[in-house]
Amino acid sequence: MKIENSIVFISGANRGLGLAFAQEALKRGAKKVYAGVRNPTADSMPGIVQVKLDVTDAASVAAAAKQCGDVTLLVNNAGIARLNSSVLDASMVDFSREIFETNYYGTILLSQAFAPVLAKNGGGAILNVLSDATWFSRPMLASYSASKSAVWSFTNALRIELRGQNTFVQGLHVSFLDTDMTKGFDMKKTSPQQVAEAAFTGIETGKEEVLVDSFTRQMKQSLSGEQALYLNPPEIA
Ligand SMILES: NC(=O)c1ccc[n+]([C@@H]2O[C@H](COP(=O)([O-])OP(=O)(O)OC[C@H]3O[C@@H](n4cnc5c(N)ncnc54)[C@H](OP(=O)(O)O)[C@@H]3O)[C@@H](O)[C@H]2O)c1
Repeated sequence: MKIENSIVFISGANRGLGLAFAQEALKRGAKKVYAGVRNPTADSMPGIVQVKLDVTDAASVAAAAKQCGDVTLLVNNAGIARLNSSVLDASMVDFSREIFETNYYGTILLSQAFAPVLAKNGGGAILNVLSDATWFSRPMLASYSASKSAVWSFTNALRIELRGQNTFVQGLHVSFLDTDMTKGFDMKKTSPQQVAEAAFTGIETGKEEVLVDSFTRQMKQSLSGEQALYLNPPEIA
């Protein structure tokens, strides 16, 4: 589908990658961009309609879907990460529950709420933001990685089922981005703008899975080999 003239709903669009999606959608001529945000502000950007949204709250998600009945592209972007010093930390359990509420259950809630909206509007598309962590579990990000593997699995089921209503489903995988989530960490980071461009180009050209950077591509490509990178990760990953 084309982004031009589409009506886009993006969760967590007030900053980071979500904001980059909103800007890229406008650049490509989207008719309307809804920004699903926890705390709407008075000074929303021109062309962007803020909608109150907490992805962990089913009532909030249902209200957003009701308010935005003209959506043709849903972007499940909102996400959180928590760092643990060891997978043996007691905090692993609480972190995992908190992260899964947002990253996994939040994606399910939004997909379920908007699938009928997309069907009514001709099919459209859903874009789920995943990560290289889908396939590579760094110990300090173990809970986050588990959530992204789970969302990948859900995305794959969603794609097959929603083909029946002509909804295209994309999984977007990328390594570290230059956003608040990685603030203070010194590593190679991709710009959110580059990710939004790659994802929307993928939507427009029918790519069901978009792997933005070379590390993520190598990670996935090596999965079936005996030297799979998730077994023997490079030191700087
Ligand atoms: N940064 C990376 O290195 C990286 C790499 C791969 C994938 N990703 C993924 O990219 C996506 C965006 O991350 P980012 O880097 O842009 O992170 P970010 O800068 O921390 O932004 C996260 C966004 O999610 C929103 N959010 C969090 N919990 C929410 C909730 N319960 N309801 C509604 N919105 C909520 C935040 O809203 P508030 O402003 O209200 O907190 C914020 O807008 C996430 O899915 C993340 O997992 C990030």
